[in-house]
Formats: sequence, C-alpha cells, structure tokens
Amino acid sequence: MKPDIQEITELIRQRTGLVLCAPQLEHLAERIQERLGTLRLHDGGAYAALLRSQTAVSQQEWRSLLTLLTVGESYFFRDQGQFRLLRQRLLPALLERCRATRTLRIWSAGCSTGEELHSLAILLWELLSSEAAAWDVELLGTDLNAQALERARSGRYGEWSFRQVAPQVRARYFQRHRTDWELLPEIRAMVHFQAGNLVQDAARLQARGGLGFDLILCRNVLIYFDPAMVPDIASGLGERLAPGGYLMTGHAEVLRPPHGLLIVLEEDGVVYQRPGGQGSKQVPAGPQVAATRPHRRGRRPPSGVEVAVSPPLPAKEGSRVNALEAARSAADRGAYEEARQLCEHLRAAEPMGVSPHRLLAELAMACGDIEEAKTQLKRVLYLAPRDVAAYDCLASLYADEGKVERAATLRQAALELLADYIPDAEVEGFPGGTAATLRARWEAEAGPQTAIVAGHTRGGR
Ligand SMILES: C[S@@+](CC[C@H](N)C(=O)[O-])C[C@H]1O[C@@H](n2cnc3c(N)ncnc32)[C@H](O)[C@@H]1O
Repeated sequence: MKPDIQEITELIRQRTGLVLCAPQLEHLAERIQERLGTLRLHDGGAYAALLRSQTAVSQQEWRSLLTLLTVGESYFFRDQGQFRLLRQRLLPALLERCRATRTLRIWSAGCSTGEELHSLAILLWELLSSEAAAWDVELLGTDLNAQALERARSGRYGEWSFRQVAPQVRARYFQRHRTDWELLPEIRAMVHFQAGNLVQDAARLQARGGLGFDLILCRNVLIYFDPAMVPDIASGLGERLAPGGYLMTGHAEVLRPPHGLLIVLEEDGVVYQRPGGQGSKQVPAGPQVAATRPHRRGRRPPSGVEVAVSPPLPAKEGSRVNALEAARSAADRGAYEEARQLCEHLRAAEPMGVSPHRLLAELAMACGDIEEAKTQLKRVLYLAPRDVAAYDCLASLYADEGKVERAATLRQAALELLADYIPDAEVEGFPGGTAATLRARWEAEAGPQTAIVAGHTRGGR
C-alpha cells in the first residue's frame, strides 16, 4: 500500500514553495515507500515527523528529497529573446550606469546547473573585453539542489546543454574534457555558487559590499511554485535590487508587477526595475510604465517600443479575424493608435463582437487609462457575461484603486464561473493555467473567508 503523502507534500510546499505535479507525486510516493523500509519507519506520518525534526538526519533527508523533486532543466543562452535583451540593452545600460564604481552585482536565483549564470559571464566577458580586469564583477548563483550546484561549480557540460549554442561559441569558450565540455578557467573565475532557498534565505542574501544587486535573474523557477506564494517571493527579490536594478523572470511567471517595481516593456519581453538611481540607469528607448498598472493576466503586455525590429505588418482588410490579427500585431509593436483605430473599425462592422473590446481594454491599460480600461472590460462582460479573464482583470483594477469590496465581488463572480470548469481545463485568457490552479490562487489571495464561501458555492452545485 502506498503511504499517505499529503502531509509531506504540504511540508515541501511550505519549505520550498514547490507544488508537485502528478508524475512527481507518484515518484515521491515510491521514494517514501523505499525510505520507510530503510529508516524503519512505519508510515508517512512518521516520515513527516522526521522531516519536521531539526536533526542532522532530517537535513540529509531534505537534501536528497529536494534533489529528487526539483526540475533542473537548463541550457546555455536559454530564451534567445531574453538573452538578446540582456546583450543589447540591459547589460550595456548597467555597465554604463556602474562605470563610475566599476562594480556590477548579478544574481541567478534558482540557477540549477549554472548554464544561465555562465551564459551571463560569457556575455559580460565579451562586453567588457579588455576592460574586464578593471571591473569588480560578482556573479552569484543559488539553488536548493545541492547536486545541481556541484555540477555548476565543475563548469563541465554535456552536448545537451549546448542545444541553442553555435559551435563556434562553444569552441571559443569551452575545451573538451573527455565526453564533456569545460568552461575556460578565466570565465569560471567570474562566478560563484552557493546553496540558497528562495523561500527561507532570499531575504538574508546580500550582494558583496552590502549593496543591492544590479540584476537578478529568476527564470523558470517560480513556475513550479504555489501561485499564492509568488507575489511575496517576487517582491522579496525586488527588495534585493539596487536602485535602478532589474529583475528578469520567465515569461508570465510573475503575473503582477512585484511590489515597488516598475515594468519596463521591451521588444523581447518584460523586465521589472527598482526605481531610483541616476538617469543613465534607464534602458534607452524602452518606455516605463507605473508598477501599479495591471496587465491582463497571463498574457504578454503589448510592447512599448515604437521602432519595430521586424517590418510592421500591413493591416489586412477582409476577414474579421485578419483585422483583429492586424490590430494585435500593431499593439504588439507598440503602434497603439493604429491598433485602436483597427479595433474601432471592427466594432463598427460588428457591434456585438467581444474581441475588439478586450484588445481596447489592454490598449487602455498599456496607456495608463484605467477608466477607459474599466469601460471596455464592462462592455466585454455585457457581451460575454461568462468571461472569467474580464472579471479577474476588472477585479485587479478595482483592487489597485483600493476598492476592496468591489474587487472581492468581481473575483467572487470569477470564482463561481470557474466552478463550472473541470479542474484540468484551460481557461481562456490564462494560457498554461488550469481552472484548479486559478481557483487555488484566487482563494489563497482572497483569504480564508472567501475560500469557505467559494467552497460552499462549489459544494452547492
Ligand atoms: C528549471 S531550473 C531553472 C534554471 C535556470 N534558471 C534556467 O532558467 O535555465 C529550476 C531551478 O529552481 C530551483 N528551485 C526550485 N525551488 C527553489 C527554491 N525554493 N529556492 C531555490 N531554488 C529553487 C530548482 O532546484 C531548479 O534547479
């Protein structure tokens, strides 16, 4: 018989933020069954008690458990768009800003086997070129998986870690080591790795010299976390930034701007910036938007860069779908007025169509016009009263204005609509999320009282 692991998964969630998926739960149950035999414990409750104890055995048990449960997938220059953004804009802007002191502090939080931090080291090596020796650069990687950190420190990687790397780049910075590739010692010397748990240790972590970090990367980490814990962790990371410093997460991993940070919209994605510092800290040309401005959850906000990297798509006439695509494409390249006009054109042609209002709401938010955004979202709800995303977005706008009761009523309406979804169903407007994860997140955000009300509603159907 498989042991009851519910208490253990809750301990894991509290300690690490991690919420396990079905195959991991299977794996965990098998592992615990095995450990019960080895440790001569009679059930899952006894194993949970061992994990809770503050002993050396418990610490060791945690270490091996976490190695088993964390997803350590990483490779060099993962996400070409984000690395383009780092290479072309963020790092040059930071080097310019830090030129007076020649110190630069960077933290890869949840670094796994180190490919991310080592990729940054290579970029900096190239950008600093002959000046490298004159700079005091700290590149820190932290993770809770001790085995991954050991691998990171070795600087040795197999072929699979280079799946996005041109052979000439690998040849320039790595040398063959049996079947692996080893990073050149001068670049390895730029980085260091240490154990760190984002839930327990992040608040204590300091950059060398007690100053904040100029850049924090926390990518493909928070996606595995309990969504209710993400806002606090992301805000905690924001507090570790120096004024003017940047936080980069994976796309849509953080659904609201972390507390106290500004959104910087760029052609290749979104980063957050701690306000302050000198003017030269700003990334040139990328407009900044007040942190309180919510964007539609789970969807990348339209880019604010007016100069399109790719040639602007012509507005296609004809079918409604094409016109809508043209409007979205205009919004995505920051041509808001063009996008707005296309939406108005669509509205005139099809007064009962919902999509133009959705996009008009997004455009209004991107331009900071909250009243107009609310009007458009109400029109969406008039035309499509079961639109969960519109309820959620409207709730966020009211919450940001401090209209807590109005926000709670709208969120409650969204929760009630979710009750009609099967738990695994994807909900339109929240790519990648399921009805169950959304429900859990909103119930947690709303607090115990609403959770009971929502539970009651569900039970009553
Ligand atoms: C998928 S890897 C991401 C690696 C790298 N950031 C990248 O994008 O390539 C996720 C890493 O997050 C780490 N992680 C998970 N929970 C963590 C926590 N609470 N504190 C620190 N690291 C954590 C895991 O051990 C794993 O190595």
